[in-house]
Amino acid sequence: MKKPTSAVSTRSFNRVPASWSNDVETVLITEADLAERVKTLAQQIEKDYTGKEMVIVSLLNGTVMFLADLIRNISLPLRLDFIGVSSYGAGTESGDLVFTKELRIDVHGRDVLLVDDILDTGRTLHRVLAKLRKLKPREIRTCVLLDKPERRVESVEADYVGFKIPNQFVVGYGLDFAERYRNLPFVGVLKPEMYQDGAPH
Ligand code: IMP
Ligand code: MG
Repeated sequence: MKKPTSAVSTRSFNRVPASWSNDVETVLITEADLAERVKTLAQQIEKDYTGKEMVIVSLLNGTVMFLADLIRNISLPLRLDFIGVSSYGAGTESGDLVFTKELRIDVHGRDVLLVDDILDTGRTLHRVLAKLRKLKPREIRTCVLLDKPERRVESVEADYVGFKIPNQFVVGYGLDFAERYRNLPFVGVLKPEMYQDGAPH
């Protein structure tokens, strides 16, 4: 990763652990752009859910930073729960999904907002939406920070999208590769050689 020039990106750059600084190719979305967009999404959600019995269902683990920033900007009496979902292996494809944590809140008759980090092939949201619909919520809407429309396999779209991005593997702001890079404060593009031959596991 090349040393940036502006003050803001220098601050982000300085927070990349030294041993990871050669793994990230570019910063795709800066901290400032994330903060501004997440606040706007939160305002839209707040407007749309005013007066409703809102339950936010967030998918573990990738939503950790996005969710924290989103909900601190939503001033509604919401409830929050998580579904743990994980795909086998350390790769970049969403393979066989396993549920690692089940929902605890009863969402029957509620207005559910399902939050995920990124909508890629759509397999994850498709599976989770099918699971949630069986619980008979009044309505389910979906919110994702990132959307890679080029990669879609299942026909699923999100109601609230932070950023549409090109078909590149991204990390940071909660998103991982093999559980690493989640703590980067920006969304960055990982160098392809990191997840091709010789990738860390
Ligand atoms: P989908 O099931 O293919 O839509 O993928 C959704 C899941 O795959 C997300 O929740 C992420 O965990 C993971 N994923 C997809 N693309 C990326 C990426 O570019 N970086 C990190 N994780 C990704
Ligand atoms: Mg992941």
